[in-house]
Amino acid sequence: MSRTAFLTALPKAELHVHLEGSITPEIAMQLARRNGLALPGGDARGLREAYAFRSFRDFLRLYICVSRCLVEVADARDVVVDLARRHARMGVRYAEVTFTPLTHRARGISAEVLWAGLAEGRDEAQRMHGVTYRWVFDVVRSMPQQAEATVDFAIGMDARDLGSVAGVGVGGPEADHYPMEAIGRAFDRARAHGFASLPHAGENAGAASIWTAVRRLGADRIGHGVRALEDPALLQHLRDHGVALEVCPSSNVALGVAPSLLEHPLPALMAHRVPVTLASDDPPMFGTDLIAEYERCIDAFGWDEETVRAVVRAGIEHSFAPPALRDEMLAELSEPSSSPPPSRARA
Ligand code: ADE
Ligand code: ZN
Repeated sequence: MSRTAFLTALPKAELHVHLEGSITPEIAMQLARRNGLALPGGDARGLREAYAFRSFRDFLRLYICVSRCLVEVADARDVVVDLARRHARMGVRYAEVTFTPLTHRARGISAEVLWAGLAEGRDEAQRMHGVTYRWVFDVVRSMPQQAEATVDFAIGMDARDLGSVAGVGVGGPEADHYPMEAIGRAFDRARAHGFASLPHAGENAGAASIWTAVRRLGADRIGHGVRALEDPALLQHLRDHGVALEVCPSSNVALGVAPSLLEHPLPALMAHRVPVTLASDDPPMFGTDLIAEYERCIDAFGWDEETVRAVVRAGIEHSFAPPALRDEMLAELSEPSSSPPPSRARA
């Protein structure tokens, strides 16, 4: 069995992947064409070149262009189903998929269209590809005035498709000067509703931002969180309270959060016994997917089979997957395998 086949066979959960950021250039061009929109690059190959941005600002600009392709119910549905097709091929059984509803509401797309597209997509993802999705609806950190409406959107989605919402998040540009109180109040309401708190923090700002996510937002996990290393007390808090980091190494390298994979803080975070899960963030935009993330970590950090299994297990254990699915995945992961350990050489 090749290393890729071994990784594919493991029952995986992906806990940090954005729906808008998972749109491939091919699908984006298809949606743009049917909605009469123009995209940078002109065709799929040109757009793929535009995916090679050099800064977080350029990345967000491209992200917003691609996001505009979601106009009709079928657009959101097709994007969800295409992600599920790729997830199924990688052996991903469950994912928490982030979506930023207010980006689309602000362009005049109705909540009804978005709810319907997401619900149809989730249903087809399960039926056609056997992949279970739950949503994370995130607020753009620089738009705290959208926080309450984001929580309203999440409550509306949950009413329409019961159990489909895992939590609420915070994304977009990160800096210490953004006021967090309005987002904090909205998160209080979301948590009272039973939604998990799943903010990005410690990606483009430091430990103080992660402390705010933990203390004010009651974070159940942290998106990225790689700058936790700056503060030993924070490392201890994350470890003692089981707050897992959703680490996305290729994203961090693409956006300059880490200078290279070899210099990525993931091994140091693991050495401090902070719980970590592995994810792809915006896979086509960073030239990656979940299997590639595992392969790159094996190559860069020399992970052995036990380490790979521990990271896969953490993804399941720190997820908000339905309990029966979670138990099934954990049981399958514990089955003795006849596969060889992952070698450092590419299969
Ligand atoms: N939205 C999509 N990807 C993101 C990232 N890496 N950081 C913050 N917001 C995002
Ligand atoms: Zn993200």
